[in-house]
Amino acid sequence: MAGFGSVFMPEMTIARYDGEKWSPSEFVPSDKLEFHAGAHGLHYASSVFEGLKAFKHADGTIKLFRMNRNLARLANSSELLALPPIDVAATEQMIIDVMRKFADQTPEPPGSMYIRPTHIGTDAIIGAAASPSSTSCLFILLSPVGNYFSGGDNTLRLLIEEDGMRCAPHMGMIKSGGNYASALGPILHAKKTYNANQILFCPNGDVQETGAANFLLIDGNEIITKNLDSTFLHGVTRDSLLTLAKEIGMVVSERALSVDELLERVANPACEAALSGTAAVLTPVGTLIRDGEECTVGSGAAGPTTLKLREALNDIQWGKAEDSHGWLTAI
Ligand SMILES: Cc1ncc(COP(=O)(O)O)c(C=O)c1O
Repeated sequence: MAGFGSVFMPEMTIARYDGEKWSPSEFVPSDKLEFHAGAHGLHYASSVFEGLKAFKHADGTIKLFRMNRNLARLANSSELLALPPIDVAATEQMIIDVMRKFADQTPEPPGSMYIRPTHIGTDAIIGAAASPSSTSCLFILLSPVGNYFSGGDNTLRLLIEEDGMRCAPHMGMIKSGGNYASALGPILHAKKTYNANQILFCPNGDVQETGAANFLLIDGNEIITKNLDSTFLHGVTRDSLLTLAKEIGMVVSERALSVDELLERVANPACEAALSGTAAVLTPVGTLIRDGEECTVGSGAAGPTTLKLREALNDIQWGKAEDSHGWLTAI
């Protein structure tokens, strides 16, 4: 399969906000997007997005996973970046409309249709660095995908970064392109210097998240992961996995975790660590690198609890287990 997110459906749904109201949504080609070169979003990064998936079930139906959560986060990101308010119900319908149009292009599991709602400030004014955009456009782009981490079940290598941070602390819970751009320099350095797949951002020793996924430490019957605050993204997958973990009797500790405690715990051969996210699902971590020193996580291989939790989540997404939480929406 082509690289994750590199193939697109030829059309998308789009709506525009004119400063007072949203236009009706329409289908337009997805290979171009028109707005003024002075658009606020291009210069001052008033731009937010989401990532969710639709899955094909054995009976041929297509189901969206926790769309309401992603749209609530898009609404929140838009508000926190002073973009116009989105119309959640209309945006939901835009997702359903474009998914219906391209339903037959949804890959079979383990593939899925990745859905990318994007909201950009479009005021043509480059003198407005200190004022918000009163107009915007919102579009829903579709990309059929397979595995995000191309290594399949290979474990990941993470560089622990204690000095820098992924983004400004008040921006972490906003899904905005600037956060990803701000993490690129350190990530490229980690790849080149340590052959790391990603950075685990731990400002001042506080274990936070990686560049594109949340971090879960699984120690025996307990999952430890940072408690929600404004510094990192509140993952929908994280929430789903913690819910499933509680249901199978695991103890979920949402609290601060220091790098020292993390390294002490992963030295235990039964300990596991994994990255959670819409793209990553739950991908095992095999190695942590601190100050140039490599620490193997548990056995170094994908752990049984990681695989069990991932399977429990995939079973719901793929329609192999009952959707007892009402997480799926038919298109
Ligand atoms: C920085 C970051 N953290 C965490 C996540 C996980 O969030 P979710 O589970 O909602 O996809 C993502 C997105 O996938 C992300 O980009």
